[in-house]
Amino acid sequence: MQETGFSLHKRNTVEAAHHPSPFRPAKNLGFVNLINDIFYFYENKYEVHSKRAGSACFKRRPEQQHKLVQMNADALILAADSALRTLWAQPRASRATPRALEPAASLTAAEQREAAALMRVNHVGEVCAQALYTGQILASKNPELRAKLAEASREETDHLAWTLQRLKELDDRPSLLNPLWYAGAFAIGYAAGKLGGDRLSLGFVVETENQVEAHLNSHMQRLPAGDLASRAIVQQMKEDEMAHARMAEREGALPLPGVVKGMMSAAAKVMTTVAHRV
Ligand SMILES: [Fe+2]
Ligand SMILES: [Fe+2]
Repeated sequence: MQETGFSLHKRNTVEAAHHPSPFRPAKNLGFVNLINDIFYFYENKYEVHSKRAGSACFKRRPEQQHKLVQMNADALILAADSALRTLWAQPRASRATPRALEPAASLTAAEQREAAALMRVNHVGEVCAQALYTGQILASKNPELRAKLAEASREETDHLAWTLQRLKELDDRPSLLNPLWYAGAFAIGYAAGKLGGDRLSLGFVVETENQVEAHLNSHMQRLPAGDLASRAIVQQMKEDEMAHARMAEREGALPLPGVVKGMMSAAAKVMTTVAHRV
């Protein structure tokens, strides 16, 4: 107890002389002061000021540190809110679902299964996009960049809603492992922003969106020729992803090392292979 800083005076009060709180303890109210001090200590509002045998003095932390604690708490709440909305709420698109110009052809059972598996993979990609952007927004201290990332993230919400809607139309379900995909992508997005800074974080956006675009191109080859509804959605997503990559480049994205690109590609391969089935 002494080493961590909350050692108490023999009279069960902290040293009054260094106690600038409005709750300045009266020396003969030991128990009340003890409760007050524990309350404030656990709110992280005090730090050890000095120690003597049998007692320790505390002073309030600088206001800056209060704000940091507050920001971290806000960030955690925002992250939890984003995860809950992405994984369990019905996403709301801000744009209408892209529609094919021609009437849809009817699909065989096998074609419908394959189309659903591909749209499930795309839906997982959009779950990961929500997580990546949320992590990157929380990690950045630049308000203009945060606004740009949030704008891209809103378009990803459209993609999330469109792919989920199409999955339902194809009478299938999202990946059961979505919480796992979300957690992994959030950790990558947050770590890229925190450890590498904004420009490296933007480098992740460019590489991710380029890989997603290539992946969507391959889906245009693999989707059944008659599934015009899925094709219209994938086509619009592809255009949006390319615009996100160009935005990140304009904002000063750093090119990622080849080994990192390779690791991202390998992780995406695992995700798309598993999500095709589960
Ligand atoms: Fe997307
Ligand atoms: Fe995107």
